[in-house]
Amino acid sequence: MELIHATRFEHWESIRTEGLKGEPFISFTAVDHKSVKGCIAGVVAADLLIYVDVQKALQDGIQFSPSSNPQTIVCESNALDVKYFAKVVNIRSGVILWTSKGDEEIHTLTATELRKMKLYSDARIRYTLNTAVSIAYTCGNSLKASDFGFVDQLHYLGYECMDDFFGRYAASLQKMENARAIDIGTGMGGPARYMQEQYGMQVTAIEYLHELVKICRIMNSLLQIPEERFNIIEGDFSHMDVDYMQLEGQFQCLTAQLTFLHISDKEDLFKRCAQVLTDGGYFMIEDYFLADDTELCPEDQQRLKDDVSVPTGVPVTEKRLRALLEDNGLVVEEFEDMTDRWSVFIWERCESFMADRQKLEAEHGVEYIQELGHFYTAVASVFHKLQCDSRIERYPNVCQAVGWSPALETKDQNLRGCRIMGRKKSTFANGAANGVHNGIH
Ligand SMILES: C[S@@+](CC[C@H](N)C(=O)[O-])C[C@H]1O[C@@H](n2cnc3c(N)ncnc32)[C@H](O)[C@@H]1O
Repeated sequence: MELIHATRFEHWESIRTEGLKGEPFISFTAVDHKSVKGCIAGVVAADLLIYVDVQKALQDGIQFSPSSNPQTIVCESNALDVKYFAKVVNIRSGVILWTSKGDEEIHTLTATELRKMKLYSDARIRYTLNTAVSIAYTCGNSLKASDFGFVDQLHYLGYECMDDFFGRYAASLQKMENARAIDIGTGMGGPARYMQEQYGMQVTAIEYLHELVKICRIMNSLLQIPEERFNIIEGDFSHMDVDYMQLEGQFQCLTAQLTFLHISDKEDLFKRCAQVLTDGGYFMIEDYFLADDTELCPEDQQRLKDDVSVPTGVPVTEKRLRALLEDNGLVVEEFEDMTDRWSVFIWERCESFMADRQKLEAEHGVEYIQELGHFYTAVASVFHKLQCDSRIERYPNVCQAVGWSPALETKDQNLRGCRIMGRKKSTFANGAANGVHNGIH
């Protein structure tokens, strides 16, 4: 049972400093913790939910008593200090704004900091919107998610990863009735729409950036995808209250392509991933990592921080990544090092962008060229090692932009990329019997 109090954003600063006040008393709603979301669905005027740490309050002699309304409990004193709050949650996004554990030491990117990455800029969004509308117009009624091609894909190698993942696990997923997938950091929703269309998944997509959520919604409506097949949640997954959002144990499948590099508290992140998956559920993660026992040079760290929104500039090592997954019952069945293939993709993307610069500038404006050119060059310079002999002939524009010389080949490629696939251990949350049943231990 939870005791909660709903309030508006504008009251939070004074509540945070002076506590909750009420004249003649403060009233709370008492609700089973599994039904908090449903219970406050009708509270349209509120933005925040304050959860009370009832045990602590009772221990300190604070009295609560029933009122004439069976769901309402009143506090006998007319002020309740913030030290008696358990957490404060944003009603719509489910993001935890405040917890009794105090301010986090781990640096978390704000939406404004995250959006500094030029891949998420207004110019890139405008480009997607214009191109998507023109594709939709050309395709008419036969429009499919895959017709959008690379326009709404903010990772490498297009749909390959989705096909690889579902090629491996689709048969098992299809045996599960109404298999549901959660896509963390869906961006413009490209990969999520593809798995919805191609593999029949019912998708919940989480995205932090408001502008990308808007584009995702527009593209879904171009395809006339019903909301019950593609539910979008706008919010920061790394601070999302998965219990309040009723995401716990709901998904047979979790995907995240190039999202986790933006989130520094990996321990908490993988705990949440395990929480949202059902026992035996499947996961696919594409991310950057650092080769074990190596370092990134200071320039690459700075580029990752400034241009790719990697909060500390240093991704986790493979060893650490595997340990974090394992600690949360996420069993790795495939860990593919994608570095070489991604590097070729990244250099080819950058070269063809630069080679088409004039045409693209005429179509999409100078801002688009400057911003995307800057981003593609930064990524090409951190994924610098290519297995190719005639680099200057093949990639003249990129070589010039990143200041490449043969001497750079001696520099190790310690920044790496991976595609990880696996399953949540059945025994992890619910005991051995489930594990035997699903054949995972
Ligand atoms: C490189 S993009 C990839 C988007 C999409 N997965 C794709 O492959 O097209 C990473 C996305 O993760 C989102 N993101 C980053 N941190 C997030 C967080 N804490 N919660 C939800 N989304 C997040 C970013 O806003 C961005 O849209």
